[in-house]
Amino acid sequence: MAMHDKIEKHAGLMAVLIVVAISFGGLVEIVPLMFKAAVVEPAEGVEPYSALRLAGRDIYVSEGCYNCHSQQIRPFRSETERYGHYSVAGEFVYDRPFQWGSKRTGPDLARVGGRYSDAWHELHLMDPRAVVPESNMPAYPWLAERFVDPESIQKRMRVLKGMGHPYTEEQIEAAADAVAGRTQLEAVIAYLQGLGTEWTGQDEATAAAMAQGGDS
Ligand code: HEC
Repeated sequence: MAMHDKIEKHAGLMAVLIVVAISFGGLVEIVPLMFKAAVVEPAEGVEPYSALRLAGRDIYVSEGCYNCHSQQIRPFRSETERYGHYSVAGEFVYDRPFQWGSKRTGPDLARVGGRYSDAWHELHLMDPRAVVPESNMPAYPWLAERFVDPESIQKRMRVLKGMGHPYTEEQIEAAADAVAGRTQLEAVIAYLQGLGTEWTGQDEATAAAMAQGGDS
């Protein structure tokens, strides 16, 4: 076993070979995912964000909402019973960057869309304790006083289009008017109300899982 001896006695050579071995393992795991349709293609019904929702998403990120809220429902009964169908990869293809997270000071928001009325969200964001007395979520009253910037939203849509989001020129043209005069509060609420609502295969997937006797 001359070869083996050689490797064991040369730390440098061994280090290089360890890196090769580990990289190979990584490539075998990661590269196929890049070509797997279920991971890179949008789930049925999932569309790129509308201008107002995209603006809301950016505000969500800049206000740091992700520090307390995850957006990924894991396939465990304790989660699916509370939040709804577990998240699937195809729901996130238009999220750059993802808001998955793992810190849950507050509840997961992946399917919060439609759970409350716009008026509830408005009250809650202006003063969380007005609707949930025990809440420790901060209030965001300034969102009601600040407006969405119509020009920058078009630029942001163009960048996303360059990265492969299928926005049409008409959608980008119409974007400035769609957000003009809208407050940041309205944008965040529009974003929240869309979360997790688009994927049309949800009910079918839940029914199939129930039929097999598994968790939904
Ligand atoms: C310091 C942690 C913290 C931050 C930051 C935070 N939240 Fe929360 N959030 C909570 C907690 C705790 C709750 C649960 C109590 C409540 O409903 O207020 C909550 C609840 C919510 C709910 C209701 C969810 C449900 O299913 O009942 C929404 C929607 C929400 N937050 C949105 C936001 C948005 C949007 C932002 C950023 C503008 C934000 N949160 C920032 C802690 C936080």
